Amino acid sequence: TFVVTENCIKCKYTDCVEVCPVDCFYEGPNFLVIHPDECIDCALCEPECPAEAIFSEDELPEGQEAFIEINAELAEVWPNITEKKDPPEDAEEWDGKPGKLELLER
Ligand code: F3S
Repeated sequence: TFVVTENCIKCKYTDCVEVCPVDCFYEGPNFLVIHPDECIDCALCEPECPAEAIFSEDELPEGQEAFIEINAELAEVWPNITEKKDPPEDAEEWDGKPGKLELLER
């Protein structure tokens, strides 16, 4: 299973959703998640993310472990997204900023 991690928050480029063969992305106000039971581990989304926010759960960067649970939980409540949309206007500004977890809107 692949996991969307912290750097997606407030970047939300949505390039990832276009390549997913099983449409397993779900959209919140400022973040996307992958449904862990629907992801088939194809790995296509990982290189598509301009913010490098997607990782295999086996290769999660240190400190990103909480996102396994966050993806599982929010994929159950957020709506599905399958088409790319414009990112937030200030997406570039937020790319790479630390401490974004507390800005996650549910
Ligand atoms: Fe987020 Fe990257 Fe997708 S910023 S919306 S995981 S392309």
